[in-house]
Amino acid sequence: MLIFSGGSNRPLAEKVARELGLSLGNLEIITFPDNENRVRVIDRVLGEDVVVIQSTGISPNLYYMELFFILDSMKRSGARSITLVIPYLGYQRQDHIFRDGEAVSLEVIVKLLESMGVTRVISYDFHSVKIPVIFKVPVTHLSALEIFAEHINKMDKTDLVLVSPDMGGIARIKKLSELTGGLPFASIEKNRDLDTGDIESEKMHGEVGKRVIIVDDVVSTGKTLIAAADLLRKNGAEEVSVMATHAIFAKTAPKDLENSSITKIIVTDTLRLPKKRTFPKLQVLSVSSPLSKAIKEE
Ligand code: R5P
Repeated sequence: MLIFSGGSNRPLAEKVARELGLSLGNLEIITFPDNENRVRVIDRVLGEDVVVIQSTGISPNLYYMELFFILDSMKRSGARSITLVIPYLGYQRQDHIFRDGEAVSLEVIVKLLESMGVTRVISYDFHSVKIPVIFKVPVTHLSALEIFAEHINKMDKTDLVLVSPDMGGIARIKKLSELTGGLPFASIEKNRDLDTGDIESEKMHGEVGKRVIIVDDVVSTGKTLIAAADLLRKNGAEEVSVMATHAIFAKTAPKDLENSSITKIIVTDTLRLPKKRTFPKLQVLSVSSPLSKAIKEE
C-alpha cells in the first residue's frame, strides 16, 4: 500500500502514515503564478493500492481541484485501487435543493470523485446519515462520537446534559448519550434564513442542566454555537462546553468563539488548524488512530 497527502492537512496524513508504519509518498505539486496547479506522482504506483488523504475546510475549491489532479495522476499512472480518505467532505451541507433553482453541490462532488477512479471513501461525521447512499463506491463513515464519549467518560458527569444546537443533530446526541451511560439530552430548534444563512430564531426543547455540552458536526462561523450557548445560559446553564468534529473556523470564528459565553471547545483534527487559528479555549483531539485502523481494514 502507498499513501499520499494533498496539501490540506499534512500533519494528520503524517500521523496516519506513521501509525501504518509507512512514509508519505512523493507528489510534486506546483502552483503557477496564475494560481493554476500542476500535479505529478513521483513514486511508481502501477498496480499498487494507493491511499490519498485530503480534507477541504476553509478553501474547498482550492483543495478539491488539487485532489482531482492527484486522483487523475494516480489513475493515469496505473494505480490498482484508490482509497480516498477525506476527513471532512466539503460541500456536504448542500446535499439537497433548499430553494428552487439551486445546484446540489454534493452530488457534483461525488460524481467527480467517482469518475476520477476513487474505489473507496473513508470520511468522518457526515452532516446527514444519508450521504453514504449517494456514493456508488463503498463508504466507511467514521464518527468522532466515540472519541468524545471516551473524553466525557473520564469527566465528572454531575449535572451534565448533552444538547444539540439544531433538530438535525438529535440522532447524534442520542448516540452520544448511549455511549456515555445515558446522559440526559435536550435540543434547540434553530431556524435559518435560507437566503442569507443567518440564524433567525431559537427555541429550547427539553431540560437544561447546570453543565451543558453542545454537540455538533461542523463549526464554520461559530454563530450556531455562540447563539446556542447564549440561549442555554439564559435557561440556567452555568457551564457550556462544545464538542464538534470539523473545525472549519471561517473568518473571525476563532476570536468570536474565544470571546463568547462558551467555556471550552473540543474539536478534532479532521481539518488542519494552523497555530494562528487556535485559541486558549480550544482543545484538539486526533482522529489519526481510527483512520489508520479503517484504512487497514480494507
Ligand atoms: C448545521 O446544520 C450544522 O450542523 C452546523 O451547526 C452549522 O453548519 C454550523 O455553522 P456556523 O458555525 O456557521 O453557524
